[in-house]
Amino acid sequence: MMKRIYMMVGWCLSSMCLAGTSDGIVPGTVWPDDNGVHINAHGGGILFHEGTYYWFGEHKIEGAAGNRAQVGVHVYASKDLCKWTDRGVALSVDDDPDSEITKGCILERPKVVYNAKTGKFVMWFHLEHLGAKPQPYSTARSAVAVADHVAGPYRFLHSLRAMPTIWPENFPAELRNRFDAPDSYYTSSASWQEKAETHQRGLAVNTCFHAGQMSRDQTVFVDDDGTAYHIAASEHNATLHIRELDTTYTTYSGRYIRVFPGRFHEAPAVFKRKGKYYMVTSGCTGWAPNAARSMVADSMMGEWRELGNPCKGINPRNGLGAEKTFGGQSTFVLPVQGRQDAYIAMFDLWQPKNAIDGRYVWLPVEFEGDSFFIHWKDEWNLGVFD
Ligand code: DGJ
Repeated sequence: MMKRIYMMVGWCLSSMCLAGTSDGIVPGTVWPDDNGVHINAHGGGILFHEGTYYWFGEHKIEGAAGNRAQVGVHVYASKDLCKWTDRGVALSVDDDPDSEITKGCILERPKVVYNAKTGKFVMWFHLEHLGAKPQPYSTARSAVAVADHVAGPYRFLHSLRAMPTIWPENFPAELRNRFDAPDSYYTSSASWQEKAETHQRGLAVNTCFHAGQMSRDQTVFVDDDGTAYHIAASEHNATLHIRELDTTYTTYSGRYIRVFPGRFHEAPAVFKRKGKYYMVTSGCTGWAPNAARSMVADSMMGEWRELGNPCKGINPRNGLGAEKTFGGQSTFVLPVQGRQDAYIAMFDLWQPKNAIDGRYVWLPVEFEGDSFFIHWKDEWNLGVFD
């Protein structure tokens, strides 16, 4: 009985929120857009531009086929973060089988930033070519699309492996040009410990030195001085790379660092508060949830210090707590405009068997000294920031 009442309350709040009569957020439920259709913007990020929030994310279709890009990147617009208007497909996949973004490729975690110098909107995403060998995630490239208008259409510009023939700034000289790995590393019986140690020594940095470094899960962060950074899971997901972009934001500047070698972080989301830089990430367990992680630094280019799992509480809709990030995986942290210290942590609740049904968990970020926390809330509104 309680469960039924709870579900009805949840449904009511959710439809109030997104039908435009309230400003509530109900994590993990169906979030209808202005057409009454569940928002289709997974692995997404939000750009605030001229008074409006634009939410870009992976457009998924029904079934497991939705784990590949069949449509492209969808964009929604909102003034209040609750009522979202469907603005259509911002970047379309291509019907041309020779295109890098041909239908059926893997196009994940799109993030859009605005370049005030060029007047262009720049979208970065993780790209896996259709038919990638030896396995679907071996392309490991970043890709860039640009537009003259915030909602698009975005035009595919290029894909990149990062900074060929350039060493990370914090990669010790004694590890350069070394390829030592235990035989077990190349077998399926390699333990996580063996993999971690092999990557701490920088095997993948060395093997990718000429072709350029790998990128999988990724985000982009623009600092107050206009410098932009691409943060990506590299080295077969073993190590995060933080890479400075050039002034056009469409390619790299040549500077990058490795963060937590061999620690296997995915799903990076970066934000800045009171001069400090923070990151939320996850571990690496495919579509299945694991415990979120967090870290802090005085500069984007390090040193980064790990803080632990910022999540607290339990999601009663699926029974999952902090050790499984409420069933979700981080994708973005949004600074709320016009409010001090107001940040929303955004997570995806993936549904790999029916990708279009992936849900969104948005929760307020709370601060304690240099650390931050994300408490579960059944429903909430922007008043929590007052
Ligand atoms: C976890 C990543 O965070 C997702 O973006 C996606 O790449 C899945 N892994 C694929 O298993």
